[in-house]
Amino acid sequence: MDILVIGGGGREHAVIKALKKSRRAGKIYALPGNGGIARDAECVPVKATDIAGITEFARTHRVDFAVVTPDDPLVLGCVDALEAAGVPCFGPTADAAIIEGSKVFSKNLMKKYGIPTAASETFTDPAAALAYLKGANYPTVIKADGLALGKGAVIVNSFEEAEKTVNEMMVERVFGASGDRILVEEFLTGPEVSVLSFTDGKTVVPMVSSMDHKRAKDNDEGLNTGGMGTVAPNPYYTEEIAGTCMETIFLPTIRAMNAEGRTFRGCLYFGLMLTKDGPKVIEYNCRFGDPETQVVLPLLRSDLLEIMLAVRGGCLREDMVRFRKGAACCVVLASEGYPKKYDTGFAVSLPETGPDEDIYIAGAKLENGKLVTSGGRVLGAVATADSLKEAVGRAYALADKIHFENAYMRRDIGKRALAALEDR
Ligand code: AMP
Ligand code: GLY
Repeated sequence: MDILVIGGGGREHAVIKALKKSRRAGKIYALPGNGGIARDAECVPVKATDIAGITEFARTHRVDFAVVTPDDPLVLGCVDALEAAGVPCFGPTADAAIIEGSKVFSKNLMKKYGIPTAASETFTDPAAALAYLKGANYPTVIKADGLALGKGAVIVNSFEEAEKTVNEMMVERVFGASGDRILVEEFLTGPEVSVLSFTDGKTVVPMVSSMDHKRAKDNDEGLNTGGMGTVAPNPYYTEEIAGTCMETIFLPTIRAMNAEGRTFRGCLYFGLMLTKDGPKVIEYNCRFGDPETQVVLPLLRSDLLEIMLAVRGGCLREDMVRFRKGAACCVVLASEGYPKKYDTGFAVSLPETGPDEDIYIAGAKLENGKLVTSGGRVLGAVATADSLKEAVGRAYALADKIHFENAYMRRDIGKRALAALEDR
């Protein structure tokens, strides 16, 4: 089977490496891919948001199956367009991808179907939002309705901060139309857990849980980023909590989407907070998380392509999805300065990887056959092992063998997870 993977980050590199292991995988194309993905797939310079270009490529190259992983093409209807052109896809159609594409939609869905989430109010008028925020408790959370490159949720500690955020989102429109509606949300506390799941719209099969590290600096300080590292499984996510989530969140969400005539097929990502009142939904994503995928897929023992085909075909079964015991850790190497200004164009030197190690390239391109940095998050160094402690140690040992001029990494990925394991 010839496969098309849309996207060009570390997540797509992990997806492609997992697909390559499948007996049925033939040629793999990445649109656009990146300099590291080029080792594992044929990269084609078509942007992930160029739906017409993608469809044209799939048709002319007689691709058998397409995997659409980034949020923007999904929300733009990439799966709808490919399916209409006769290319079967893994990924939700646009009417289901709205679960990520509009936070107002997903909040209303949760309210309507009694799915636990933070209390919130929706505003379309900045003056009304500010009047409400005058009397709010702080901290509180302000969220832009639409996609905002992961920067659309802002925790504000005072009315002054809230006023600034509302102005940026609704008046200056820094996120464009994404900020025309906003949510003002109750601030929740508790450990955060990411749970990716496969679903064909009937059956939902959660993958191994994970923990992201979103802040740029050690001890969760510094700015919010796309994610500086991950571990799996997440030690806070016990079997008992997993059972509660299945009954109160996962199944109700699948049923709710069906009831709305928006059946979700693909990878549904549950961003959860384990509050003292039980698990609550912080966000849904309509896709694999990045860099969660980089620790979840290395632990998958089953054939990813078979699972994806079953999701598309509506015949997913729980026993198709098996994970190895043990743990994984991903340490992201970023360009110094990320998520703000940073320099690129530095040569990347990579070591050979051992059997339980992998390097997933996110922001690097080939220049005269050499890999050079081209993005904020450059790559993820990943190791799997029998214990989390060992996985973390090996991921850092691998990361320390990777070199480029302005490399920066957090030194405490997995630290909190290891402490939580010790507290048990
Ligand atoms: P999001 O863009 O929705 O993923 O949110 C980014 C981050 O903001 C989350 O990972 C949480 O750490 C934090 N966050 C979002 N919503 C809330 C909330 N209601 N209470 C506390 N923290 C939140
Ligand atoms: N790591 C969070 C996300 O993919 O949105």
